[in-house]
Amino acid sequence: METYIIGITGASGSAYALRISDALLESGAALRVVATDTGRRVLEYETGVSLERWAGERPNAVLEDNADLFSPLASGSRRFTGMVVAPCSMSTLGRLACGVTTDLLTRAADVMLKQRRPLLLVPRETPLTSIHLQNMLTLSQCGATILPAMPAFYHRPRTVDDLVSFVAGRALDCLGVENHLYQRWREEP
Ligand SMILES: Cc1cc2nc3c(=O)[nH]c(=O)nc-3n(C[C@H](O)[C@H](O)[C@H](O)COP(=O)(O)O)c2cc1C
Repeated sequence: METYIIGITGASGSAYALRISDALLESGAALRVVATDTGRRVLEYETGVSLERWAGERPNAVLEDNADLFSPLASGSRRFTGMVVAPCSMSTLGRLACGVTTDLLTRAADVMLKQRRPLLLVPRETPLTSIHLQNMLTLSQCGATILPAMPAFYHRPRTVDDLVSFVAGRALDCLGVENHLYQRWREEP
C-alpha cells in the first residue's frame, strides 16, 4: 500500500491539508499525519476540525507525535511513498532550507530530501521576502516541489471549496495520483 506523510504547519490554509489527505485516502493510500503545535491550532481555528478526531474517524490515517523522533518517519530506512507539507509556513520552510530539524515534521521532510523521495511543499504567505524566495529556490534545487497555495480562476470557481480543490488536485497531480478534484483546461466536465 502507498503510504504518504502529511505535514501540517501553522500557515493559513489548513483546508488544503484536509482536502489533500482525504483525496489520498480515497485513492487507497495510507497516511501518517504530523502537525506542529501551531499547525493544529490554526487548523482548529480555520476549520473547526480537531486533528485527533479527524484521524480517529479515518482507519488508514495515523496521527504522529511531532516530538517523537523515534517514529519511523524519522528514518531513511523506512520507505514512504512521498510527503506533502500543506500548508507550509515560512518558518518551517526556513528550517528545511537550512537543514535544521527541530521536530518530527522537519526531520521527516529532511529525510525525503536526503533519500531523494518526493517532497511537495505548499507554502502560504504574502508578500514574500527575498529570504522566503531564496529558501524556496534552495529547496527546489534540492529536489522538493514548490506548489504555492495559488488557486487559478480559469476553471471559474464558484465556492471556496472549488479553490481549495484546485490546489489539492494540482498537489495530487504532482504526486502522480489520479484525481478529479478540479476541472482541467478544455476537458469535458
Ligand atoms: C491564524 C494564523 C495564521 C498564520 N498564517 C501564516 C501564513 O499564512 N504563513 C506563514 O508563514 N505563517 C503564518 N502564521 C505564523 C506561523 O504560525 C508562525 O510563524 C509559526 O511559528 C509557524 O510555526 P510552524 O512552522 O512550526 O508551524 C500564522 C499564524 C496564525 C496564528
